[in-house]
Amino acid sequence: MQLPDMKEARHRTKTEVLVKNDYVLTEEEKVLGVGKTYFVKTYGCQMNEHDSENIRAILEQMGYKPSTDIEDADLVILNTCAIRENAHNKVFGLLGRIKHARQSKNVMVGFCGCMAQEEVVVDAIMHKYKWIDFVFGTHNIQSLPSILEKATKTNTQQIEVLSCEGEIQENIPVKRDNKYKAWVNIMYGCDKFCTYCIVPYTRGKQRSRLPKDIVCEVESLVKDGYKEVTLLGQNVNAYGKDLNIDYTMANLLEDVAKTGIERVRFVTSHPWDFNDEMIDIIAKYDNIMPYIHLPLQSGSSKILKLMGRRYTKEQYLELVNNLKTKIPNCSLTTDIIVGFPGETQEDFEETLEVVNVCKYDSAFTFIFSPREGTPAAKMEDNISLEEKENRLYELNELINKYSKENNDKYLNKIVPVLLEDYSSKNSSLKGYTDTMKLVNVKADSSYLGKIVNVKITSVKTWSMDGEIVELQ
Ligand code: 5AD
Ligand code: SF4
Repeated sequence: MQLPDMKEARHRTKTEVLVKNDYVLTEEEKVLGVGKTYFVKTYGCQMNEHDSENIRAILEQMGYKPSTDIEDADLVILNTCAIRENAHNKVFGLLGRIKHARQSKNVMVGFCGCMAQEEVVVDAIMHKYKWIDFVFGTHNIQSLPSILEKATKTNTQQIEVLSCEGEIQENIPVKRDNKYKAWVNIMYGCDKFCTYCIVPYTRGKQRSRLPKDIVCEVESLVKDGYKEVTLLGQNVNAYGKDLNIDYTMANLLEDVAKTGIERVRFVTSHPWDFNDEMIDIIAKYDNIMPYIHLPLQSGSSKILKLMGRRYTKEQYLELVNNLKTKIPNCSLTTDIIVGFPGETQEDFEETLEVVNVCKYDSAFTFIFSPREGTPAAKMEDNISLEEKENRLYELNELINKYSKENNDKYLNKIVPVLLEDYSSKNSSLKGYTDTMKLVNVKADSSYLGKIVNVKITSVKTWSMDGEIVELQ
């Protein structure tokens, strides 16, 4: 049995993207799940959420019906995240509970996602979690029907986690969570190898989908009444660099905007690949939303170098300045890691300084978590956990201050909101502004799926309330 090999995964050769269009089920696979129910539990990022949309659609093609309760399902699949240790711990915690529940009910258990691409995890599943029925990697979603069939028939643990370098599988079915906004993968994998990050190992080499396949998907979403697409990739600004054609993220953004979809978003951007051409396209098209998620990671050039981020504090600030000048109403969010090995108090203060300049609308903040097999896991780390927690607390206080200040500017303003779902608040709907601010709006369900003008009546750190105004 060959396991995913983290050392091997570092070797990137220049292979052409190989697009496979041949997704089909056998007659046997189509009826395997008839009379049975499934539950997919998803951890992690939008990429994983979107993979789960594919997994659900595949299962339903096989006859499985969704279960609303993990306890009742005949098939449970955990789509896992490996980015930090606490993501690992949550998954192993749930596995313990599932094992216990299995004693009273015959339930099949599958394991997939980023943890399924980690050598240590697959090894543990083979030796300590023999009761897990099947494992498939982020590259093997299309093989789910055959894996499930083999696991059912042979009653032996099935593992399929190896990747075929440079391969993209098109035509996998999808069951979207939302009727108005959709995720669209534009690329898979990442070649940046930031020293703390496990993603280039678990998601593999960067592979861009062909422009025509992406535009075609967006066009059919428009036909189906979708209002918003979010273009997904680990490093969307590098889109196209692996294709042997003269076509970049700026070209793709423009072509997607021209489909006429009302809202275009994209995540995640790496500052290193963010060029002026892209900024100009975002500024030019009204349907490309003025919202950029631009991970900073650290405000110290010394730490950025150790992280392998390829930009300095000054270059990052220059990019933000360009964005804010050319896209004046742009909102800006970020990711920041504190307590990276070697981060001194002065380095941390430089991060706070950048936050004070950028005044982010919000941020995801993390304590550095060593991931086995990455270069940063071997760097000497002499900062105590208490110190790291203090830094995280101080950073979050500052981030929250700017979130509230930015939101305060919306009070009494009229802004467009796409009402996408019911709110947990009584008789309200919820939606997002073009700048990605969450708004609860008193409105009945006839407004679902509509982009309406909303007057903001009250503002909090994380959300706002508003009411619909009919404009002349
Ligand atoms: N430790 C802490 N945070 C991490 N991230 C990625 N890897 C790690 C790690 N080892 C954060 C980065 C990234 C976000 C998705 O998760 O900030 O942008
Ligand atoms: Fe990880 Fe860096 Fe790639 Fe983002 S760009 S997925 S942080 S390696």
